[in-house]
Amino acid sequence: SAAEKGGYEHFMLKEIHEQPKAIRDTLTGRISEDGQRVVFDEIQWPENFAQNIDRIHIVACGTSWHAGMVGAAALEKLTRIPVSCEIASEYRYRDPIITENTLMIIITQSGETADTLAALREAKARGTRVVAITNVVGSSAAREADDVVFTWAGPEISVASTKAYTTQLISLYLFAGWLAEQRGSVGATQVPEILAALRELPELAEKALGTSDEVKAFANEWASKEHAFFIGRGLDYAVSLEGSLKLKEISYMHAEAYAAGELKHGTLALIVEDVPVVALVTQDDLYDKTLSNIIEVKTRDAYVLGIAWEDDKEIAKSVDRVIRIPRTLPFLAPVLAVIPLQLLAYYASTARGNDVDNPRNLAKSVTVE
Ligand code: G6P
Repeated sequence: SAAEKGGYEHFMLKEIHEQPKAIRDTLTGRISEDGQRVVFDEIQWPENFAQNIDRIHIVACGTSWHAGMVGAAALEKLTRIPVSCEIASEYRYRDPIITENTLMIIITQSGETADTLAALREAKARGTRVVAITNVVGSSAAREADDVVFTWAGPEISVASTKAYTTQLISLYLFAGWLAEQRGSVGATQVPEILAALRELPELAEKALGTSDEVKAFANEWASKEHAFFIGRGLDYAVSLEGSLKLKEISYMHAEAYAAGELKHGTLALIVEDVPVVALVTQDDLYDKTLSNIIEVKTRDAYVLGIAWEDDKEIAKSVDRVIRIPRTLPFLAPVLAVIPLQLLAYYASTARGNDVDNPRNLAKSVTVE
C-alpha cells in the first residue's frame, strides 16, 4: 500500500532514501566513545585466532558479492591478509583451499540464499570459522555462522538491493578496521581517521541523494538506449559492477561494467557514437589513468556521464555530463558513488514503464540452487 511505501511511489525509492538512516543505524554502538576504536562485541573468537588468520575468503551472490569486492580491498589494505572474494555458486564446487587459519565471511542480505548457505556449510564442515554479514535476524545464515554481524538496514522489500548494499559496505569497513586492531596491523593507525569519516557518511549520503532531480532528467534522456557501459578502476570498478547490475535488473537495458584499463582488450570495439558510458572517477591515485580511458571513449564519440567529487575541477572538460558526490576519503567513496547509480537505474526503469519493485524473472531471495 501507499502507506507502507512511506509516500514514495516504490519501495526501491523509499529504500534508496532510507540509506542515511540505515548507515547511521549500522554504525550505532560500533565506535568507541572516544572515536578511536571499533567495537564488535558480537564477535567472540578463540584466543589467538585473529593473529593466526592467514587468508580470508569472502563468499556471496549478486549485490552482496559486489559489496564483498569492496570489503576485500578494505581488508587487504588495513590488515595485509590475502583476501579473495568469490561467487558462492563457484566457490562451493571448486574445492577451495581452506585451513583452520582461514576466515570465511559470507555476505547475504536475506541470510537465505541457497548457494551462499551451501558455501557456508562446506566451509564449516572443513573446520573454518565463518562470520556472516546479514540483514535478517533469525535467518539461516545468522543461525549457522559462528559469528554474525548484522547490517541494520531494516526490511528491504524491493528486489533490487540498495540500502542492504550500503550497510554491507559499512559493516565491512568496520570489520576491516576491527581486525586490523585485533592483530596490531600497521593499518590500525588509520582507523581513527576512517571512523571519523564513517560518522560523516549519513549526512553526506543525504547530500548525495540531492542529485536525484539531475539524475532523473538524465535517466529520462537515456531511457531509450539499449546499451550502457560502466567504467572505473580500483574501488570505482567494484561500484561500476553494482551500477551495471542495478541498471540491468530493473531497466532491462544491457549494461556492462569494465575495469577501465581493460577496455582496450575487447570492449572498446563496442564504443561507437552516442553509446552511454558512466565513468567513475573517485580514486584520486588512479585519476590520470581513468581520465586517459575516458579520453579513449570520447575519441569514439561515446556519451560520457562522469561520477566525480564535488571539488573536481578537471573532469567537466573531458565528459559530457557530471554528477557530483560530496567529498569523503577515496577509501569510502563506494558508499556515496553508488547512490546516483541506484537513482539512475530507478529512473531509467520508471521511464521505461517497468515494474520497479518486482522485475521480470528475478526473486528477492533465491532459496533454491
Ligand atoms: C537475489 C536478489 C539480489 C541479491 C542476491 C543475493 O538475486 O535479487 O538483489 O543481491 O539475490 O541475495 P542475498 O540475500 O544473499 O544478499
